[in-house]
Amino acid sequence: MPFPKKLSTFVSPVYILLPMPESIKVYAPATVANVTCGFDVLGFAVNNPGDEVELKLTSKPGVTIKRITGDNGRLSLDPQKNTAGISIFKYLQHYGIDKGVEMTLHKKMPLGSGLGSSAASSAAGVFAISRLLGRTETAIELLPFAMEGEFIACGSAHADNVGPALFGGFVLIRSYDPLDVVKIPTPENLFTTILHPQIEVETKDARNILPRFIPLKDAIVQWGNVGGLIAGLMLKDLGLISRSLQDVIIEPKRAILLPGFYEAKHEALQAGALGGGISGSGPSIFQLSKDESTAIKVGEAMEAVYKDLGIGCEVYISRVNTDGPVILG
Ligand code: HSE
Repeated sequence: MPFPKKLSTFVSPVYILLPMPESIKVYAPATVANVTCGFDVLGFAVNNPGDEVELKLTSKPGVTIKRITGDNGRLSLDPQKNTAGISIFKYLQHYGIDKGVEMTLHKKMPLGSGLGSSAASSAAGVFAISRLLGRTETAIELLPFAMEGEFIACGSAHADNVGPALFGGFVLIRSYDPLDVVKIPTPENLFTTILHPQIEVETKDARNILPRFIPLKDAIVQWGNVGGLIAGLMLKDLGLISRSLQDVIIEPKRAILLPGFYEAKHEALQAGALGGGISGSGPSIFQLSKDESTAIKVGEAMEAVYKDLGIGCEVYISRVNTDGPVILG
């Protein structure tokens, strides 16, 4: 990518410098992108899982990756090929900062899961470098650097995972050029259930199967639902949220990659879910529920489907995370 052409419109020229620690450890949350009807424009953060990035200032200029844990050796130690590494590198380059940092990345969620794994690393990395240097850039200012991570991860600099990972909460990417991100309030007791089946789907592959053009009649249904979902969240209208969680464009194409998807969705609705769909590009499935006890029942119902299919899975239950990245130490 591609920085947005109008980066200068949202970069504040004045920064407050805070005391600089020698090292820092930051957690950034997993995210559910698309939220059924909002392909590439809607996403929300969850409390767990998430990734951790540790940074230490060194005398060697640039970014060095010391170690990655939790990835079974699958991720590159080359900072240009690592989503957190490239985000930090682009940040230092953009601001002309001549410092060296050594990174340790702790992957605490499955790769290729549809939970925004690459985005959590990028968001943690770029937030960590900012705060390690005693700077105070806001989420919108850090977002273009984290989007660089998405670009190297799958060839598309979408912001519906990195946006909520950096902002916390539920976000709408109203525009990509210039970047315009809106935080959407959500009902306090809204819970999500995420089932991650042990199948792997590469975002690049899940994007390549999508149509380049869509019929106007489908676009009308889809933007009605995006508007309905946003209105439902803001009005705390659970019925409207439920009716709006429909995707007539992306889900029908991607569901073929996901054994058990329609059965799990059916069982989740029977168990009381408001609705849901594919989390990001899959294979995880998310559902929204009016409270925690319903979210637990929904998890059990979906888990039973995958047990019958003989496919292992993990279930996460969470409120919408409102914090975004957090300094752990
Ligand atoms: N909006 C993206 C997609 C999220 O569905 O491809 C996955 O990174």
